[in-house]
Amino acid sequence: MNKKSVKDVEVRGKRVLVRVDFNVPLNEQGEITNDKRIKASLPTILYLVREGARVILASHLGRPKGQVNPKYSLAPVAKHLSNLLAQEVVFAKDCIGDSAMEPVSKLQDGQVLLLENVRFHGEEEKNDPSFARELAGLAELFVNDAFGTAHRAHASTEGVTHYIPAVCGLLMQKEVEFMGNALERPERPFVAIIGGAKVSDKIGVIENLLEKVDALIIGGGMANTFLKAQGYNVGKSLLEEEKVELAKQLIEKAKSKGVELELPIDVVAATAFQADAAHRTVRVSEIREEEMALDIGAATAEKFEACISTARTVIWNGPMGVFEMEAFAKGTEKVAQAVAACGGITIVGGGDSVAAVEKMKVGERMTHISTGGGASLEFLEGKILPGVAALEEA
Ligand code: 3PG
Repeated sequence: MNKKSVKDVEVRGKRVLVRVDFNVPLNEQGEITNDKRIKASLPTILYLVREGARVILASHLGRPKGQVNPKYSLAPVAKHLSNLLAQEVVFAKDCIGDSAMEPVSKLQDGQVLLLENVRFHGEEEKNDPSFARELAGLAELFVNDAFGTAHRAHASTEGVTHYIPAVCGLLMQKEVEFMGNALERPERPFVAIIGGAKVSDKIGVIENLLEKVDALIIGGGMANTFLKAQGYNVGKSLLEEEKVELAKQLIEKAKSKGVELELPIDVVAATAFQADAAHRTVRVSEIREEEMALDIGAATAEKFEACISTARTVIWNGPMGVFEMEAFAKGTEKVAQAVAACGGITIVGGGDSVAAVEKMKVGERMTHISTGGGASLEFLEGKILPGVAALEEA
């Protein structure tokens, strides 16, 4: 990556504003139910602590729409982070003004402070210049480590870079390097697996990947639109009728590019979208009018596994079926295992596929699990992420 990293600049004794993505799931009691994103930011935070910087962390949590809302307070995250770091993390009740300035001015070298949710101010998402200047005014250096939010041009990701020197954090660097290398310099065969409910969410991703991969595997609800494009009747399955024509074009594009396009040949079809619905595995030509495809079938899983087993680079985004329901989880589980076993470079992104990998306990065997949902999709689309673009060149 051609961006300056936090390791390329002097940080000792400096106030360093670090944008992290602590947008973590909380339960009704306000407890963190998955701290992966917090843990993923530890290398940057620990590096700065060890180097004697005064660390000021900024993040959003949820979508509070510019209003102060205790439900979206980062206070529980400050507590959790204190435990992870085994040192007290000071919590500032606001991200600008005296409530931020005062505790920041008291920070000693190696201390860490977390600012309250930047989205409690509507100016954050508007990328308001005076709000960005106020945030930047807290520090002498900006480090962006929030890959998960790098697709947003907000005040705390893009705006601040106009006022103080801005470099990338270690997580950001790792994410961009892994995904960038896979896309630009893949070891071949390069196989991409794309799943999830809708084609419309992933058109850009499929189009970009068709330029780069040797094989493209399509599963999940979005496969139905491709099956329809191939002339099959998909019954009551989730279908984007208006995208059938596009699916036909993508099938043609794959052919003309010499990309092996792998689509389901059988599915697990149910009569209702319910965990206990009656279901059967059928060939794609045998889906009945009253049935809906909720997972790929065993023959498809085998075909996908064979393709994945040859890969030297795999990118996977999106589940193969409704994997939250046990009866329709097998396809996704088999793909997770096949990716883990392939022995190549394996990169997993997107909430559902990451959850499947965690459920199957194969996370350790993946080369890289992205912390980005929307951001990793935009990256795979080949888009320039504004939070990355704004950082200083190396
Ligand atoms: C995410 O969870 O994908 C990021 O934190 C971005 O959140 P947002 O979609 O609310 O901007």
